[in-house]
Amino acid sequence: MENFTAYNPTKLHFGKDVVEQLREAAQEYGKKVLLMYGKGSIKKNGIYGQVIKQLKSFNAEVIEYSGIKSNPLVDDVNEAAQLGKLNNIDLIVAVGGGSVIDSAKITALSIANNTNPWAIMKFKVKPKTTIPLIAVLTLAATGSEMNGAAVLQNHKTDEKIGFSSSLNFPKHSFLDPTYTFSVPKDYTAYGIVDLTAHSLEGFFGEGDATLTDRFVEAIIKEAMEYGPKVLSEPENYEYRAKIMWAATNALNGLTNYGRKSGDWGVHSIGHNLSYLFDTPHGATLSIAYPAWLKLQKDRIPERIAKLGEHLYGNVSADETINRLEKFFQSLGSPIKLSDIGIGEDKKEIIIQQMIKTETNGMVHKLNDDDRKKIVELMM
Ligand code: NZQ
Ligand code: ZN
Repeated sequence: MENFTAYNPTKLHFGKDVVEQLREAAQEYGKKVLLMYGKGSIKKNGIYGQVIKQLKSFNAEVIEYSGIKSNPLVDDVNEAAQLGKLNNIDLIVAVGGGSVIDSAKITALSIANNTNPWAIMKFKVKPKTTIPLIAVLTLAATGSEMNGAAVLQNHKTDEKIGFSSSLNFPKHSFLDPTYTFSVPKDYTAYGIVDLTAHSLEGFFGEGDATLTDRFVEAIIKEAMEYGPKVLSEPENYEYRAKIMWAATNALNGLTNYGRKSGDWGVHSIGHNLSYLFDTPHGATLSIAYPAWLKLQKDRIPERIAKLGEHLYGNVSADETINRLEKFFQSLGSPIKLSDIGIGEDKKEIIIQQMIKTETNGMVHKLNDDDRKKIVELMM
């Protein structure tokens, strides 16, 4: 087992109606609130009204920044930060999925350190402090509600990249599974893929951490059991709750303790696809993971077979890859680029983007030849 530090300061409130505790949590930080959200789902499903009611109950002054898109842009973060600075805000409340929460994390850093958000993302400025962030999660997928990571894209520099800091942990996160009832089938499936992929990135990291491997097993088994169920009964509270909690635990530290790091090569591949084609994050992973595993099959056959042993009993590396691919497919998530309408004519563009961004894993290194092979395997 490798040395590690376990640190997770987020106070997580889970269950039906937990947002009723938002007032108490928020008022501790002040009255000027920057409320950030996406393109409007929270107005349709009534979550917006519930959050506003909480904020108004202590006479908060609410300044809104909305319209954050999926695969969020640094431009929105820039604008939100200007608005936050102008209004001298005390607190950010982010209501949404990973895209909104990630944007809010970098907005908070940008305001508190009076700096350009991209300088933070590129490690050109080391943030020293931040503004308190409260998250109200509406989509089970990324784990952003209980971790320090944020991912943004920038069309000027041609990349989608991640940034991680212990300053980024939300102070509080509110997870009401009923808030995810309205998530459409496709995004529900992408969330299940994402949580599975986070567990796998941990599993293929470096370090002999058998307990952590068993956490990975438990989380993926939860996804395999309740993923198909939640897709057929999207308003079943128990199924939504199981998937929501599994997603949080797939990327809050639990799947990485005892390892030097996870691998994250597949996420790196996925970010290129999201950048180029605006493909939803989870959909990129159900395409990239089988391809990456096929590339690694002859390099780390024992480790892939070990995953098979955890998930399916005694099966070969080939069979493990086959079953995982079938699982993603059964959720309705794409497993090939052709499933999302990306044909051979785009092959070279993807390869060049992956070479330019030096797409890589932290443990299993990829060279240009590997990048080409992976693109072939995704076609
Ligand atoms: O914008 P609105 O109208 O709110 O619609 C959103 C969006 O279109 C919709 N949605 C969210 N909650 C809903 C809902 N629709 C109906 N009912 C609800 N309750 O779902 C769409 C997708 O939302 P988004 O936030 O983009 O999804 P997700 O949570 O999957 O976040 C994806 C982003 O997070 C990054 C990804 O790269 C991607 O940019 N990630 C963040 C990570 C982290 N911070 O730890 C790790 C991940 O690996 C990932 O990279
Ligand atoms: Zn992910």
